[in-house]
Amino acid sequence: MKIAFLNPSGQLGGAERSLLDILASLRAAEPGWDMRLVATADGPLVSGAESLGVHSTVLPLPPALAQLGDGGADGAGKGGSLLKLLRAGPTAAAYASRLRETLRELAPDVVHSNGFKMHVLGLWTRPRRTPVVWHVHDFVGRRPVMSMLLRSHARRCAAVVANSRSVAADVTAVCRGVVPVHPVYNAIDLDVFNPAGQTLDLDAAAGIPTPHSGTVRVGLVATLGWWKGHETFLRAVSLLPRDLPFRAYVVGGALYETADSQHSLDHLRNLAGRLGVFDRVGFTGYVPDAAAAMRALDVVVHASTEPEPFGLVIVEAMGCGRAVIASQAGGAAELITAGENALGHRPGDAAGLARCIEALVRDRDLRLRLGEAGRATVERSFDRARLAAELAPIYRAVAVGRN
Ligand code: GLC
Repeated sequence: MKIAFLNPSGQLGGAERSLLDILASLRAAEPGWDMRLVATADGPLVSGAESLGVHSTVLPLPPALAQLGDGGADGAGKGGSLLKLLRAGPTAAAYASRLRETLRELAPDVVHSNGFKMHVLGLWTRPRRTPVVWHVHDFVGRRPVMSMLLRSHARRCAAVVANSRSVAADVTAVCRGVVPVHPVYNAIDLDVFNPAGQTLDLDAAAGIPTPHSGTVRVGLVATLGWWKGHETFLRAVSLLPRDLPFRAYVVGGALYETADSQHSLDHLRNLAGRLGVFDRVGFTGYVPDAAAAMRALDVVVHASTEPEPFGLVIVEAMGCGRAVIASQAGGAAELITAGENALGHRPGDAAGLARCIEALVRDRDLRLRLGEAGRATVERSFDRARLAAELAPIYRAVAVGRN
Protein backbone atom coordinates (compact mmCIF):
# COMPACT_ATOMS: atom_id res chain seq x y z
CA MET A 1 0.00 0.00 0.00
CA LYS A 2 1.33 3.39 -0.96
CA ILE A 3 -0.27 6.47 0.58
CA ALA A 4 0.43 10.11 -0.26
CA PHE A 5 -0.43 12.47 2.60
CA LEU A 6 -1.10 16.07 1.52
CA ASN A 7 -0.79 18.84 4.08
CA PRO A 8 -1.41 22.56 3.51
CA SER A 9 1.35 23.81 5.85
CA GLY A 10 4.73 22.85 7.25
CA GLN A 11 4.04 24.02 10.80
CA LEU A 12 2.79 21.88 13.66
CA GLY A 13 -0.80 22.84 14.35
CA GLY A 14 -3.17 20.27 15.83
CA ALA A 15 -3.97 18.71 12.46
CA GLU A 16 -0.27 18.23 11.75
CA ARG A 17 0.49 16.75 15.15
CA SER A 18 -2.39 14.36 14.55
CA LEU A 19 -0.86 13.48 11.17
CA LEU A 20 2.53 12.69 12.71
CA ASP A 21 0.84 10.35 15.19
CA ILE A 22 -0.96 8.64 12.32
CA LEU A 23 2.33 8.20 10.44
CA ALA A 24 4.05 6.80 13.53
CA SER A 25 1.16 4.44 14.24
CA LEU A 26 1.00 3.15 10.65
CA ARG A 27 4.77 2.86 10.49
CA ALA A 28 4.73 0.55 13.54
CA ALA A 29 1.70 -1.51 12.50
CA GLU A 30 2.31 -1.72 8.74
CA PRO A 31 6.07 -1.60 8.23
CA GLY A 32 5.72 -2.65 4.59
CA TRP A 33 3.58 0.35 3.61
CA ASP A 34 5.14 3.15 1.60
CA MET A 35 4.07 6.51 2.99
CA ARG A 36 4.92 9.85 1.44
CA LEU A 37 4.22 13.38 2.56
CA VAL A 38 3.65 16.39 0.33
CA ALA A 39 3.68 19.60 2.38
CA THR A 40 3.38 23.20 1.26
CA ALA A 41 6.33 24.42 3.33
CA ASP A 42 9.39 23.08 5.03
CA GLY A 43 9.29 23.05 8.82
CA PRO A 44 8.72 20.83 11.83
CA LEU A 45 6.04 18.74 10.11
CA VAL A 46 8.47 17.75 7.39
CA SER A 47 11.35 17.04 9.77
CA GLY A 48 8.97 15.06 12.01
CA ALA A 49 7.80 12.96 9.06
CA GLU A 50 11.36 12.42 7.82
CA SER A 51 12.44 11.23 11.25
CA LEU A 52 9.70 8.60 11.02
CA GLY A 53 11.14 7.48 7.70
CA VAL A 54 8.40 9.14 5.65
CA HIS A 55 9.96 10.71 2.60
CA SER A 56 8.64 14.23 2.05
CA THR A 57 8.31 16.62 -0.84
CA VAL A 58 7.92 20.35 -0.25
CA LEU A 59 5.86 22.21 -2.83
CA PRO A 60 5.83 25.79 -1.57
CA LEU A 61 2.44 27.42 -1.70
CA PRO A 62 2.42 30.87 -3.33
CA PRO A 63 1.69 33.59 -0.72
CA ALA A 64 -1.71 34.41 -2.24
CA LEU A 65 -2.81 30.86 -1.51
CA ALA A 66 -0.94 30.44 1.78
CA GLN A 67 -2.67 33.47 3.27
CA LEU A 68 -6.05 32.24 2.19
CA GLY A 69 -6.80 30.42 5.42
CA ASP A 70 -9.62 28.09 6.17
CA GLY A 71 -11.06 31.13 7.91
CA GLY A 72 -10.35 33.19 4.81
CA ALA A 73 -12.32 30.81 2.66
CA ASP A 74 -15.26 31.39 4.93
CA GLY A 75 -17.81 33.92 3.80
CA ALA A 76 -19.39 34.04 7.27
CA GLY A 77 -17.07 36.31 9.17
CA LYS A 78 -15.01 38.59 7.02
CA GLY A 79 -16.48 40.29 3.97
CA GLY A 80 -14.73 39.72 0.67
CA SER A 81 -13.56 36.16 1.40
CA LEU A 82 -15.31 34.72 -1.59
CA LEU A 83 -13.73 37.44 -3.68
CA LYS A 84 -10.29 36.57 -2.28
CA LEU A 85 -10.93 32.96 -3.13
CA LEU A 86 -11.86 33.79 -6.72
CA ARG A 87 -8.83 36.03 -7.09
CA ALA A 88 -6.63 33.17 -5.92
CA GLY A 89 -8.08 30.97 -8.70
CA PRO A 90 -5.34 31.36 -11.35
CA THR A 91 -2.60 30.89 -8.74
CA ALA A 92 -4.38 27.76 -7.52
CA ALA A 93 -4.52 26.39 -11.06
CA ALA A 94 -0.77 26.89 -11.53
CA TYR A 95 -0.07 25.26 -8.20
CA ALA A 96 -2.40 22.36 -9.03
CA SER A 97 -0.43 21.50 -12.14
CA ARG A 98 2.76 21.11 -10.05
CA LEU A 99 0.95 19.01 -7.48
CA ARG A 100 -0.56 16.87 -10.26
CA GLU A 101 2.91 16.21 -11.60
CA THR A 102 4.22 15.27 -8.13
CA LEU A 103 1.33 12.87 -7.53
CA ARG A 104 1.75 11.32 -10.96
CA GLU A 105 5.37 10.52 -10.10
CA LEU A 106 4.44 9.18 -6.66
CA ALA A 107 1.62 7.03 -8.08
CA PRO A 108 -0.04 6.35 -4.70
CA ASP A 109 -2.82 3.82 -4.07
CA VAL A 110 -4.56 6.33 -1.81
CA VAL A 111 -4.31 10.10 -1.27
CA HIS A 112 -4.99 11.31 2.29
CA SER A 113 -5.62 15.06 2.44
CA ASN A 114 -5.22 16.83 5.76
CA GLY A 115 -6.77 20.28 5.52
CA PHE A 116 -9.30 22.17 3.51
CA LYS A 117 -7.10 23.41 0.66
CA MET A 118 -5.70 19.95 0.14
CA HIS A 119 -9.17 18.36 0.16
CA VAL A 120 -10.00 20.35 -2.92
CA LEU A 121 -6.56 20.33 -4.56
CA GLY A 122 -6.22 16.58 -3.88
CA LEU A 123 -9.33 15.85 -5.91
CA TRP A 124 -8.25 18.16 -8.72
CA THR A 125 -4.81 16.63 -9.02
CA ARG A 126 -5.01 12.93 -8.08
CA PRO A 127 -3.96 10.45 -10.74
CA ARG A 128 -6.99 8.90 -12.45
CA ARG A 129 -9.01 6.50 -10.27
CA THR A 130 -6.87 7.15 -7.20
CA PRO A 131 -9.16 7.41 -4.14
CA VAL A 132 -8.89 10.50 -1.93
CA VAL A 133 -9.63 10.32 1.79
CA TRP A 134 -10.37 13.64 3.47
CA HIS A 135 -9.26 13.99 7.06
CA VAL A 136 -11.51 16.71 8.47
CA HIS A 137 -10.31 18.39 11.66
CA ASP A 138 -12.74 21.31 11.87
CA PHE A 139 -16.41 22.17 11.80
CA VAL A 140 -17.39 23.34 8.35
CA GLY A 141 -21.15 23.71 8.63
CA ARG A 142 -21.04 27.32 9.74
CA ARG A 143 -18.60 28.34 7.00
CA PRO A 144 -20.69 28.88 3.90
CA VAL A 145 -17.96 29.07 1.27
CA MET A 146 -16.07 26.08 2.59
CA SER A 147 -19.29 24.07 2.96
CA MET A 148 -20.24 24.82 -0.60
CA LEU A 149 -16.84 23.74 -1.89
CA LEU A 150 -16.76 20.52 0.13
CA ARG A 151 -20.33 19.66 -0.81
CA SER A 152 -19.65 20.18 -4.50
CA HIS A 153 -16.57 17.93 -4.35
CA ALA A 154 -17.88 15.30 -1.91
CA ARG A 155 -19.13 12.83 -4.51
CA ARG A 156 -15.62 12.38 -5.81
CA CYS A 157 -14.15 11.82 -2.35
CA ALA A 158 -13.86 8.14 -1.36
CA ALA A 159 -14.20 8.49 2.41
CA VAL A 160 -14.01 11.08 5.15
CA VAL A 161 -12.21 10.66 8.45
CA ALA A 162 -13.44 13.08 11.15
CA ASN A 163 -11.62 13.74 14.42
CA SER A 164 -14.74 13.44 16.62
CA ARG A 165 -18.38 12.41 16.46
CA SER A 166 -19.44 16.05 16.47
CA VAL A 167 -17.27 16.83 13.45
CA ALA A 168 -18.47 13.64 11.75
CA ALA A 169 -22.10 14.75 12.18
CA ASP A 170 -21.28 18.20 10.85
CA VAL A 171 -19.44 17.01 7.75
CA THR A 172 -22.09 14.36 7.05
CA ALA A 173 -24.72 17.10 7.01
CA VAL A 174 -22.56 19.38 4.84
CA CYS A 175 -21.91 16.60 2.31
CA ARG A 176 -25.55 15.46 2.47
CA GLY A 177 -24.56 11.87 3.17
CA VAL A 178 -22.99 11.20 -0.24
CA VAL A 179 -19.69 9.99 1.21
CA PRO A 180 -19.01 7.61 4.12
CA VAL A 181 -17.76 9.46 7.21
CA HIS A 182 -15.70 7.65 9.84
CA PRO A 183 -15.13 9.25 13.23
CA VAL A 184 -11.57 8.47 14.37
CA TYR A 185 -10.50 10.20 17.57
CA ASN A 186 -6.97 11.53 17.61
CA ALA A 187 -4.49 9.73 19.80
CA ILE A 188 -1.10 10.57 21.27
CA ASP A 189 2.29 9.14 22.15
CA LEU A 190 1.80 8.08 25.76
CA ASP A 191 5.56 8.00 26.32
CA VAL A 192 5.88 11.68 25.40
CA PHE A 193 2.74 12.85 27.17
CA ASN A 194 3.60 11.16 30.41
CA PRO A 195 3.62 12.31 34.04
CA ALA A 196 7.36 11.54 34.29
CA GLY A 197 9.88 13.59 32.35
CA GLN A 198 11.50 16.97 32.09
CA THR A 199 9.64 20.07 33.17
CA LEU A 200 10.00 23.50 31.66
CA ASP A 201 10.88 26.49 33.83
CA LEU A 202 7.78 28.47 32.94
CA ASP A 203 8.83 31.54 34.92
CA ALA A 204 12.17 31.73 33.14
CA ALA A 205 10.38 31.28 29.80
CA ALA A 206 8.07 34.15 30.74
CA GLY A 207 10.91 36.28 32.13
CA ILE A 208 9.34 36.64 35.58
CA PRO A 209 10.60 35.76 39.08
CA THR A 210 9.82 32.39 40.64
CA PRO A 211 6.72 32.65 42.84
CA HIS A 212 6.50 31.53 46.51
CA SER A 213 6.56 27.82 47.06
CA GLY A 214 3.04 26.48 47.31
CA THR A 215 1.89 28.61 44.38
CA VAL A 216 -0.38 26.57 42.12
CA ARG A 217 0.42 26.94 38.43
CA VAL A 218 -2.56 27.22 36.11
CA GLY A 219 -1.97 27.55 32.38
CA LEU A 220 -3.90 27.97 29.18
CA VAL A 221 -1.98 25.95 26.60
CA ALA A 222 -3.03 26.90 23.07
CA THR A 223 -2.06 28.55 19.83
CA LEU A 224 -3.08 32.20 19.69
CA GLY A 225 -6.12 31.44 17.54
CA TRP A 226 -8.79 34.02 18.36
CA TRP A 227 -11.26 31.34 19.47
CA LYS A 228 -8.92 29.60 21.90
CA GLY A 229 -10.34 31.58 24.83
CA HIS A 230 -7.41 33.72 25.96
CA GLU A 231 -9.76 36.54 26.81
CA THR A 232 -12.05 34.23 28.79
CA PHE A 233 -9.03 32.92 30.67
CA LEU A 234 -7.68 36.38 31.51
CA ARG A 235 -11.15 37.51 32.59
CA ALA A 236 -11.46 34.43 34.80
CA VAL A 237 -8.11 35.30 36.42
CA SER A 238 -9.39 38.82 37.06
CA LEU A 239 -12.42 37.41 38.91
CA LEU A 240 -10.38 35.37 41.39
CA PRO A 241 -9.50 36.58 44.89
CA ARG A 242 -6.16 38.41 45.08
CA ASP A 243 -4.94 36.14 47.86
CA LEU A 244 -5.65 32.88 46.03
CA PRO A 245 -2.19 31.26 45.81
CA PHE A 246 -1.86 30.67 42.08
CA ARG A 247 -0.06 32.01 39.06
CA ALA A 248 -1.59 31.99 35.60
CA TYR A 249 0.36 31.26 32.42
CA VAL A 250 -0.46 31.79 28.79
CA VAL A 251 1.56 29.11 27.04
CA GLY A 252 1.78 29.30 23.25
CA GLY A 253 2.56 31.62 20.40
CA ALA A 254 1.40 32.67 16.95
CA LEU A 255 1.34 29.86 14.46
CA TYR A 256 -0.74 30.44 11.38
CA GLU A 257 0.22 32.26 8.22
CA THR A 258 -3.37 33.27 7.66
CA ALA A 259 -4.13 36.88 8.39
CA ASP A 260 -6.77 37.84 10.98
CA SER A 261 -7.04 34.42 12.57
CA GLN A 262 -5.06 34.98 15.74
CA HIS A 263 -4.24 37.30 18.65
CA SER A 264 -0.77 38.72 19.15
CA LEU A 265 0.99 38.33 22.49
CA ASP A 266 1.13 42.12 22.77
CA HIS A 267 -2.61 42.35 22.47
CA LEU A 268 -3.00 39.76 25.24
CA ARG A 269 -0.47 41.53 27.48
CA ASN A 270 -2.41 44.76 27.01
CA LEU A 271 -5.64 43.01 27.84
CA ALA A 272 -4.09 41.56 31.01
CA GLY A 273 -3.03 45.11 31.90
CA ARG A 274 -6.51 46.52 31.32
CA LEU A 275 -8.01 43.74 33.46
CA GLY A 276 -5.53 44.50 36.24
CA VAL A 277 -3.94 41.04 36.21
CA PHE A 278 -0.65 41.69 34.46
CA ASP A 279 1.30 40.76 37.61
CA ARG A 280 -0.55 37.44 37.92
CA VAL A 281 0.11 36.10 34.42
CA GLY A 282 3.26 34.80 32.74
CA PHE A 283 3.40 34.77 28.94
CA THR A 284 5.85 32.12 27.78
CA GLY A 285 5.39 32.47 24.00
CA TYR A 286 5.77 29.39 21.82
CA VAL A 287 7.28 26.40 23.62
CA PRO A 288 8.63 23.55 21.50
CA ASP A 289 8.14 20.89 24.18
CA ALA A 290 4.47 21.08 25.14
CA ALA A 291 4.70 18.04 27.44
CA ALA A 292 7.45 19.67 29.53
CA ALA A 293 5.32 22.81 29.83
CA MET A 294 2.27 20.82 30.88
CA ARG A 295 4.24 18.88 33.49
CA ALA A 296 5.32 22.22 34.96
CA LEU A 297 1.66 23.16 35.44
CA ASP A 298 -0.68 21.87 38.13
CA VAL A 299 -3.78 22.70 36.12
CA VAL A 300 -4.07 22.82 32.33
CA VAL A 301 -6.88 24.97 30.97
CA HIS A 302 -8.65 24.57 27.65
CA ALA A 303 -11.01 27.48 27.11
CA SER A 304 -12.10 27.56 23.47
CA THR A 305 -15.04 29.86 22.96
CA GLU A 306 -16.30 27.97 19.91
CA PRO A 307 -17.11 24.25 19.95
CA GLU A 308 -13.70 22.57 19.80
CA PRO A 309 -13.56 19.94 17.04
CA PHE A 310 -11.38 17.64 19.15
CA GLY A 311 -8.95 19.41 21.50
CA LEU A 312 -5.60 17.62 21.46
CA VAL A 313 -4.37 19.64 24.40
CA ILE A 314 -7.02 18.01 26.60
CA VAL A 315 -5.79 14.47 26.01
CA GLU A 316 -2.15 15.56 26.06
CA ALA A 317 -2.58 17.16 29.48
CA MET A 318 -4.42 14.07 30.72
CA GLY A 319 -1.52 12.00 29.42
CA CYS A 320 0.79 14.13 31.58
CA GLY A 321 -1.43 13.35 34.57
CA ARG A 322 -2.48 16.97 35.02
CA ALA A 323 -5.82 18.25 36.26
CA VAL A 324 -7.67 19.59 33.23
CA ILE A 325 -10.41 22.18 32.87
CA ALA A 326 -12.08 21.96 29.46
CA SER A 327 -14.62 24.04 27.62
CA GLN A 328 -17.48 21.62 27.08
CA ALA A 329 -18.71 21.78 23.51
CA GLY A 330 -18.10 19.92 20.28
CA GLY A 331 -15.58 17.09 20.30
CA ALA A 332 -13.99 18.38 23.52
CA ALA A 333 -17.19 17.51 25.38
CA GLU A 334 -16.87 13.92 24.09
CA LEU A 335 -13.42 13.54 25.62
CA ILE A 336 -14.15 14.27 29.25
CA THR A 337 -16.54 13.18 31.98
CA ALA A 338 -16.80 16.33 34.05
CA GLY A 339 -16.07 15.78 37.72
CA GLU A 340 -14.43 12.42 37.02
CA ASN A 341 -11.42 12.96 34.78
CA ALA A 342 -11.59 16.76 34.30
CA LEU A 343 -13.71 19.77 35.18
CA GLY A 344 -15.85 21.48 32.57
CA HIS A 345 -17.17 24.97 31.93
CA ARG A 346 -19.37 26.49 29.24
CA PRO A 347 -17.47 28.06 26.32
CA GLY A 348 -16.82 31.73 27.03
CA ASP A 349 -18.10 31.56 30.62
CA ALA A 350 -15.34 33.39 32.52
CA ALA A 351 -17.15 33.13 35.87
CA GLY A 352 -17.65 29.37 35.42
CA LEU A 353 -14.00 28.94 34.48
CA ALA A 354 -12.96 31.01 37.52
CA ARG A 355 -15.00 28.69 39.77
CA CYS A 356 -13.23 25.63 38.34
CA ILE A 357 -9.79 27.25 38.78
CA GLU A 358 -10.57 28.23 42.36
CA ALA A 359 -11.82 24.73 43.25
CA LEU A 360 -8.61 23.19 41.90
CA VAL A 361 -6.24 25.74 43.43
CA ARG A 362 -7.80 25.14 46.84
CA ASP A 363 -7.96 21.33 46.63
CA ARG A 364 -4.76 19.41 46.01
CA ASP A 365 -6.49 16.04 46.39
CA LEU A 366 -8.97 16.93 43.68
CA ARG A 367 -6.10 17.88 41.36
CA LEU A 368 -4.37 14.57 41.98
CA ARG A 369 -7.56 12.55 41.60
CA LEU A 370 -8.46 14.18 38.29
CA GLY A 371 -4.88 13.83 37.06
CA GLU A 372 -4.84 10.10 37.78
CA ALA A 373 -8.25 9.55 36.24
CA GLY A 374 -7.19 11.54 33.16
CA ARG A 375 -4.10 9.40 32.70
CA ALA A 376 -6.21 6.25 32.99
CA THR A 377 -8.59 7.63 30.35
CA VAL A 378 -5.86 8.23 27.77
CA GLU A 379 -4.22 4.87 28.47
CA ARG A 380 -7.57 3.26 27.75
CA SER A 381 -8.70 5.26 24.76
CA PHE A 382 -6.09 7.62 23.32
CA ASP A 383 -2.97 5.54 22.73
CA ARG A 384 -1.85 6.16 19.16
CA ALA A 385 -1.49 2.44 18.45
CA ARG A 386 -5.27 2.60 17.92
CA LEU A 387 -4.92 4.90 14.89
CA ALA A 388 -3.45 2.29 12.54
CA ALA A 389 -6.06 -0.23 13.65
CA GLU A 390 -8.85 2.18 12.71
CA LEU A 391 -7.38 3.73 9.59
CA ALA A 392 -5.82 0.74 7.81
CA PRO A 393 -9.22 -0.87 7.06
CA ILE A 394 -10.46 2.45 5.64
CA TYR A 395 -7.48 2.77 3.29
CA ARG A 396 -7.81 -0.89 2.26
CA ALA A 397 -11.50 -0.52 1.53
CA VAL A 398 -11.10 2.56 -0.65
CA ALA A 399 -8.07 1.14 -2.45
CA VAL A 400 -10.08 -1.97 -3.39
CA GLY A 401 -13.15 -0.09 -4.49
CA ARG A 402 -11.20 2.57 -6.49
CA ASN A 403 -13.74 5.11 -7.64
C1 GLC B 1 -7.83 21.09 14.61
C2 GLC B 1 -8.97 21.25 15.59
C3 GLC B 1 -8.60 20.72 16.96
C4 GLC B 1 -8.04 19.31 16.87
C5 GLC B 1 -6.93 19.25 15.83
C6 GLC B 1 -6.47 17.82 15.59
O1 GLC B 1 -6.76 21.91 14.95
O2 GLC B 1 -9.35 22.61 15.68
O3 GLC B 1 -9.73 20.70 17.81
O4 GLC B 1 -7.55 18.89 18.11
O5 GLC B 1 -7.38 19.75 14.61
O6 GLC B 1 -7.50 17.02 15.07
